Amino acid sequence: MTLEKAQKRVFIRTYGCQMNVYDSDRMADVLRPLGYGMAETPEQADLVVLNTCHIREHASEKVYSELGRLRDIKNERRAEDRDLTIAVAGCVAQAEGAEIMTRQPAVDIVVGTQAYHRLPQLLAEVERKSALRKAGKRLPGAGVLDTDFPVESKFDNMPSPQGVRAGSAFLSIQEGCDKFCTFCVVPYTRGAEYSRPAASVVAEARALAAAGALEITLLGQNVNAYHGEAADGSTWSLARLIREIAEIDGLARIRYMTSHPRDMDDALISAHGDVPNLMPYLHLPVQSGSDRILAAMNRDHGRDHYLRLVDRLRNARPDLALSSDFIVGFPGESDSDFDDTMRLIEQVGFASAYSFRYSRRPGTPGAAMDKQVPENVSVARLSALQALIGRTAHDFNISKKGTTVPVLFYETGRKPGQIIGKTPWLQSVYALGTPRLIGRIVETRLIEGYANSLLGEIALTEEVAA
Ligand code: SAH
Ligand code: SF4
Ligand code: F3S
Repeated sequence: MTLEKAQKRVFIRTYGCQMNVYDSDRMADVLRPLGYGMAETPEQADLVVLNTCHIREHASEKVYSELGRLRDIKNERRAEDRDLTIAVAGCVAQAEGAEIMTRQPAVDIVVGTQAYHRLPQLLAEVERKSALRKAGKRLPGAGVLDTDFPVESKFDNMPSPQGVRAGSAFLSIQEGCDKFCTFCVVPYTRGAEYSRPAASVVAEARALAAAGALEITLLGQNVNAYHGEAADGSTWSLARLIREIAEIDGLARIRYMTSHPRDMDDALISAHGDVPNLMPYLHLPVQSGSDRILAAMNRDHGRDHYLRLVDRLRNARPDLALSSDFIVGFPGESDSDFDDTMRLIEQVGFASAYSFRYSRRPGTPGAAMDKQVPENVSVARLSALQALIGRTAHDFNISKKGTTVPVLFYETGRKPGQIIGKTPWLQSVYALGTPRLIGRIVETRLIEGYANSLLGEIALTEEVAA
């Protein structure tokens, strides 16, 4: 048997936010020493991990249809005496726990968001149980479950990131949330707010830069609430941390997300003015433009607070691009509340935004509120809002037309010869260019702007041609 064949393979499917993307990579790092290489498809894998998202009903229901497909693969394998281990990780795992195995008994492992460093033990337990079963033992409950919030941090117990893809890396620095917005499951699925110690974040950033990262995105559910303990016992804010990371050789771009409007402090706003490699883009979700709805959402700030923040940020960094998340159809949202949101969008002129119809999540206060908005109303509001965002985003993209800007290319496009990259303002740029430019920052002339992207022409310098 060749070594290739002897190797076990894991397939990891990631749903949800960037924090899940980061966690999926860390899970791969935890599994590597156990002999797991990466599989391209579930069919090739010995272990499949679904790293799930619970944020909206649609997101969590998708998991169960995928689990049905995996059960079929598992059943087909029975004949070959080759097993498929199925693990559910992420926010659905945390929220639903053992219920997942009741709904889909083919699931072997349910591992919550803070327990990934324990995956080796969980896999060993699955193997132990399966050996006992093969020996004829009858065991109650087939699966293995770990949805603890352990005292030890998973970050300190998982290997550091290995390798960097296309010059860009995520770095989780903060996790969990204490804000309890009334629509949101995150405080329940990720636990209380936790900031990683500053020294371990800086060390990871250095390692990423040494491994070829030109861009690092600092991640957290409320990343600007970061308050990490430093080696001297003091507490570092996000602004302090950014200033330190900005000094690392080779790091051309620093980004962070997601921020809460309550936690944008003066130091962070000033950093946007005077840290040159802090990119001129900020994702600052406001959710609604109506004071009444913001209060019902427990966002702990009003419309004016947000608009003042935008002014101060733009004073510090005039070319700052802003993006946001919006929820339409929150319980009690009237036509006039919705108009307030539309006016705020026009006033700010967002460069991009994600928008969602409110989804009732079990266990959140919003789910029990009366005056739930009828589906046809929220569908109509969502499409009006998305049309408006399409216009403000198009205006923003057009405003860059004719300029030459540094673009970090990260993948090939669907059309032959096409590569795709990001501007400092996080706009997508499509250009013709050699795949050798992937993972590099290249001066690119922006020749046309659309609602979601720009067309670019790579400025052909000797270096690029080489
Ligand atoms: N921590 C971030 C948001 C994390 S969740 C913040 O405070 O902004 C990502 C986005 O999903 C949210 O900004 C919100 O717009 C959306 N979202 C969260 N719960 C939702 C729900 N129940 N229904 C619809 N959208 C929701
Ligand atoms: Fe959810 Fe609100 Fe926390 Fe963001 S701040 S993760 S929306 S509870
Ligand atoms: Fe989803 Fe959990 Fe992220 S619910 S958005 S994967 S924090």
